Amino acid sequence: MQTEIILSSGGKMPILGMGTAAYPIPQPELVEMAIFEAMKLGYRHFDTASLYQSEQPLGQAISRAIRSGIIKDRAELFITTKLSVADTYPGAVVPALRKSLSELSIEYVDLYLIHAPMRVRGEKRYVFTKEDVMPFDSKGTWEGMEQCYELGLAKSIGVSNFPIDKLKLLLSHAQIPPSVNQVEMHPLWQQQELIDFCQKNYIHVSAYSPLGGIGSFWGNREVLHLKEIEEIARTKEKTVAQICLRWALEQGVSVLPKSFNKERLEENKDIFGWRLSEDEVQIISLIPQLVGDDASHGLARPISQDINV
Ligand code: A2P
Repeated sequence: MQTEIILSSGGKMPILGMGTAAYPIPQPELVEMAIFEAMKLGYRHFDTASLYQSEQPLGQAISRAIRSGIIKDRAELFITTKLSVADTYPGAVVPALRKSLSELSIEYVDLYLIHAPMRVRGEKRYVFTKEDVMPFDSKGTWEGMEQCYELGLAKSIGVSNFPIDKLKLLLSHAQIPPSVNQVEMHPLWQQQELIDFCQKNYIHVSAYSPLGGIGSFWGNREVLHLKEIEEIARTKEKTVAQICLRWALEQGVSVLPKSFNKERLEENKDIFGWRLSEDEVQIISLIPQLVGDDASHGLARPISQDINV
């Protein structure tokens, strides 16, 4: 039963992590409590971002878990955070990570990701217009990420929401290749071509919103109501959520389901020690895929301008 993978950087990453993106942004106490509960249940991998406003609650949950003996020290955890698209330009990357580390009250992150291949004018925020989008400097931004690695502030570096063309450009100039591409992935958006490309290039794919997300800014709530998956869940005596998560793992992808509910956190952990049959995997692979604007919104489908393509 494999529960960790080794990234191209040499870092070890648990293949199940807890997502912490929620919108509208919940009260920090609620987020901290949910993360603390997850630590009690055995979660050791946490995904945050400067955009989510969950860095500080995560930092507080870490301190509390150490104080109460749930974990011995921070080294037992795998912590990912992301560079906001407001800070994707040379000179802004290292200070942005230092700010995140101060919110998290930790010395380093295990993984630092560019949140999306784009730059947006002004303060970080979920909602922006086409006019706010500025040219994205892939090379200059990535050099900042490489500095974060060299300074020991990030044990691994990678990207999020990068399609194949943006990855090709990044690989053409990167001194340190990205270890991870974290993208929206679920049975209604299987991302097969992107996953094949990443796997060929030793870039590990992590799935955010593997259960369909919130369905407004990103994701699609239909994922949890697909009749094909309901049928598989019935025969396997598992839940639809568990089938979605197990299916992603079997594609070689790690999963970051978000739940702030104790029962669902527990449910989302029960994805090891059993498998889908070849037929079941085949049934899921044949589910019609969402296309265009129906597939997702927000950072998953960035409107981007590039300065060095
Ligand atoms: P909640 O936090 O109340 O549990 P995703 O991981 O795809 O982004 O999905 C997140 C959404 O799915 C959240 O609204 C979350 O709500 C809900 N969710 C998480 N786990 C489950 C589950 N096992 N069953 C049903 N809904 C879930």
